[in-house]
Amino acid sequence: MSQRVIVTGGSGGIGAAIVERFLADGARVVTLDRQEPKASASTFVAVDLGDPLDTRRAVGEAVGILGGVDVLVNCAGIFQHIPLLDITVEDWDRVLDVNARATLVTMQAVAPVMLEARGGAIVNIASMAAKLGGGGEAHYAASKAAVVALTRAGAQEWGCHGVTVNAVCPGYVLTDMGADTRSEADIAAWSAKSPLGRLGVPEDVAGVTHFLASPAGGYLTGQAINVTGGMLMH
Ligand SMILES: NC(=O)c1ccc[n+]([C@@H]2O[C@H](COP(=O)([O-])OP(=O)(O)OC[C@H]3O[C@@H](n4cnc5c(N)ncnc54)[C@H](O)[C@@H]3O)[C@@H](O)[C@H]2O)c1
Repeated sequence: MSQRVIVTGGSGGIGAAIVERFLADGARVVTLDRQEPKASASTFVAVDLGDPLDTRRAVGEAVGILGGVDVLVNCAGIFQHIPLLDITVEDWDRVLDVNARATLVTMQAVAPVMLEARGGAIVNIASMAAKLGGGGEAHYAASKAAVVALTRAGAQEWGCHGVTVNAVCPGYVLTDMGADTRSEADIAAWSAKSPLGRLGVPEDVAGVTHFLASPAGGYLTGQAINVTGGMLMH
């Protein structure tokens, strides 16, 4: 049977590549996002992930469309580049709400279905910022560290029911995220940190995400896997 997959943020740079990777494998995919995907054979359900009630409604709709759920990928996220001293409480709440709280809410919404079915895979897209700290992006780094913690807790609680929960920590991927503050000098400096000498592309993250949700990745749980071209090795 083809996999039934929900991808949040499936209209964005990395999320769209994840959606296409699952579709290429014959999966049925529902994209949850606040904006419509550009061109995709996935089914689109509009949602504001900053709103827990709307998030629960949208996940329920997606599960209904698919007739169950085998895979949840939490990929939606927002980023702000702000020095720590200038982060307002509103900035903190917005970034934590979308990146971390929505991950909790979608996990809570799909887990009962997966536990009942005695199987499923959840993949949360965190960031290398979760492990590196984040000068200039403290609230973003904190939100992604929370995503890794949620991943480990889910893995510990739900493993006995056959559900795996893993995180992927991308390095620097050229998408719309951060484009407003990005310079050529930034790209050169970050590329030089990778032994492979380049930044990531969305397909780098999509391949690992797909693997984690496949039988080949079935003995991995509670992991936070770096997809950074070697910028980070622990
Ligand atoms: N691009 C990078 O360098 C990088 C590095 C590490 C981690 N990440 C993470 O990867 C994930 C995807 O990032 P991306 O680079 O594709 O970014 P992107 O901006 O291209 O896509 C993000 C998607 O999330 C959606 N989204 C944001 N807020 C939402 C909300 N409130 N409700 C519904 N949808 C919402 C957007 O509409 C968009 O489609 C994010 O979680 C990000 O933090 C990205």
